Amino acid sequence: MINRYTVIGNPIAHSVSPDIHHIFGDLAQRRILYTRTEATTENFASVVQAWKDNGGLGCNVTMPFKSLAMECVDRIKPCARRAQALNTILMHKDGSLVGYNTDGSGLLADLRGTLRVDPKGLRVLMVGAGGASRGVMGPLVDRKPAAFVIANRTLSKATDLAEQFSNEHCTVQALTIENLANTEPFDLVINATSSGLTGAQLELPDGLFSNNSLAYDMVYSNTDTPFMSWARSHGASKVVDGFGMLVEQAADAFLIWQGVRPKTRLVYPRLAHLRKPV
Ligand code: ATR
Repeated sequence: MINRYTVIGNPIAHSVSPDIHHIFGDLAQRRILYTRTEATTENFASVVQAWKDNGGLGCNVTMPFKSLAMECVDRIKPCARRAQALNTILMHKDGSLVGYNTDGSGLLADLRGTLRVDPKGLRVLMVGAGGASRGVMGPLVDRKPAAFVIANRTLSKATDLAEQFSNEHCTVQALTIENLANTEPFDLVINATSSGLTGAQLELPDGLFSNNSLAYDMVYSNTDTPFMSWARSHGASKVVDGFGMLVEQAADAFLIWQGVRPKTRLVYPRLAHLRKPV
């Protein structure tokens, strides 16, 4: 039997999720057919329903439907409820749909597994307070960083997320981007703004990095994003984009669907062709 999955988004033509999942299927010896599906806000719910009715076993959901998708499932797992968004739907044989979010677990798997950077005990800065930040903050604060600052152009959005995600182990501090000038350096700086997607410059103060800091752009890009270029020239010792997060969130989705998590270190060499500068 062929196991059918799709990724639903808009735009979707350039998604590399099919490439990733076909390699996962190969490694796990499962017959996977993974396609791309474009939807609109108006037809998103019926597109999901049609995928299920036509025998699909699940789907990924990407921009701009991650919040909307919460209304289309029968059950929401805590990972998605916390993020107020989902990126993975499991379609059961009885017709019920279950929503998950693997973005946060995927980011952590990339940080801890591939990059060997565990947020536990580190000073962490997240720039941006939109959906991308909300999607990953829960698993990050659970690692008990020594400090967690969320900085945003619009302070009120950072304050909302800081309140939502502070817990007994970690008090999240909200700042404006200008106020970052008065902070100690960070070990890990994550760009979760959409500036990399629009190409807009992100104006950040100097002094954010110590001599052993990782700069992480959650956007996947074959060339340096403005944030990555800025980080290189402002003292970050390592600079990466979100490709690892993309692969790891996909591996967590594959685990939900197929009960086995692909060994992603075997996958990266086979995805090297996707990493060529365009
Ligand atoms: P997403 O779901 O991708 O996070 P979003 O909810 O629209 O998208 O949030 C975009 C984030 O990027 C916000 O934190 C936004 O800052 P504001 O809340 O002040 O709008 C941030 N952002 C986008 N472009 C930016 C720029 N050029 N400089 C600083 N922050 C920027």
